[in-house]
Amino acid sequence: MDTLLSNMEFHQTVPEQFVLPPENRVAGEINASVSLPVIDLRGGPHCHVPDRDKLIREVLRAGKEFGFFQVINHGVSEQLMKDIMGVTEEFFNMPKEDKAAFYSEDASKTNRLFSSTIYGKDGPRYWRDCLKLACYPVPETINEWPNKPTKFREVLAKFIVEAREVSMMLLSLICEGLGLKEGYFEGDVSSGQVLINANYYPPCPKPDLTLGLPPHCDRNLITLLLQGDVSGLQIMHQGRWVGAAPIPNAFVVNFGHQLEIITNGILKSVEHRAVTNSGAARMSMAVFIMPTMESFISPAKELTNEENPPLYKSFLFKDFLRIYTDLSAKRVDVMEAFKINV
Ligand code: OGA
Ligand code: NI
Repeated sequence: MDTLLSNMEFHQTVPEQFVLPPENRVAGEINASVSLPVIDLRGGPHCHVPDRDKLIREVLRAGKEFGFFQVINHGVSEQLMKDIMGVTEEFFNMPKEDKAAFYSEDASKTNRLFSSTIYGKDGPRYWRDCLKLACYPVPETINEWPNKPTKFREVLAKFIVEAREVSMMLLSLICEGLGLKEGYFEGDVSSGQVLINANYYPPCPKPDLTLGLPPHCDRNLITLLLQGDVSGLQIMHQGRWVGAAPIPNAFVVNFGHQLEIITNGILKSVEHRAVTNSGAARMSMAVFIMPTMESFISPAKELTNEENPPLYKSFLFKDFLRIYTDLSAKRVDVMEAFKINV
């Protein structure tokens, strides 16, 4: 349990296991002249969007150009966004005895608190604590969530339903924009688990030697990320890292591998990473919409033909997950495993 970084707020040194090999360090390479597109969702899933076609074009343009964008005015209330970050912060700030109940180093467990992940064999450790939970459907999962802090379950239950609706709204815009058959994203492909990663990155005395998360693409269909006011998320864009500057109450949206494969590469799953900083603890809450384990994933028929042959293999989602984990989430390797060489 002492292995949780959040049990010790102030770290004076970086233990050797966290020091990255020189070629993987941050090294001031960020492209500060580019920022992520920001899209106004016009009130979100329960609002009538008068200019739906325009909104669809905005989402597709940002999706194709960056694979990453931020959404504002998405319908989840400011209060709820504040509450979910509030209970998450309270969780990580609890005394270590209270956190011990959820701590586990068994990576096969879905619901657990863990820290300092190693990807692959003998790799470096990453500067992050993470609470991972399966959250959907709420009645089937809520009893496994932390019951401390007191409001945790109540707030997460509300948040997850609304965040999922925002994801489904985005998927329906993408579905229509790409000319897929109505409801394409509403079946098995989006009705598996909804996982959250509540991430906590304590201040790090040597940010240039560490990372909070290594470069990776997400394994799922679509991801929403709520971050507080401390920056740290970076996105690969045209060969350079670009920062995702925090916007109050916005969600950062990105596509997982599954959406890239289903759209036959029209929408890309983009590499991202989390850097550390020495000044302030950073928190983020990622919401991952997953296919069901038995879901059959393949490039959509509507998007492939003789001139545009499928670029990716077809598979069951559970098989993808196994291979993704075996390959330590490295984009080039994962894509190589599922690519068809045409
Ligand atoms: C993730 C992730 C980024 C962040 O949890 O998959 O990419 O900013 N998080 O915490
Ligand atoms: Ni991610």
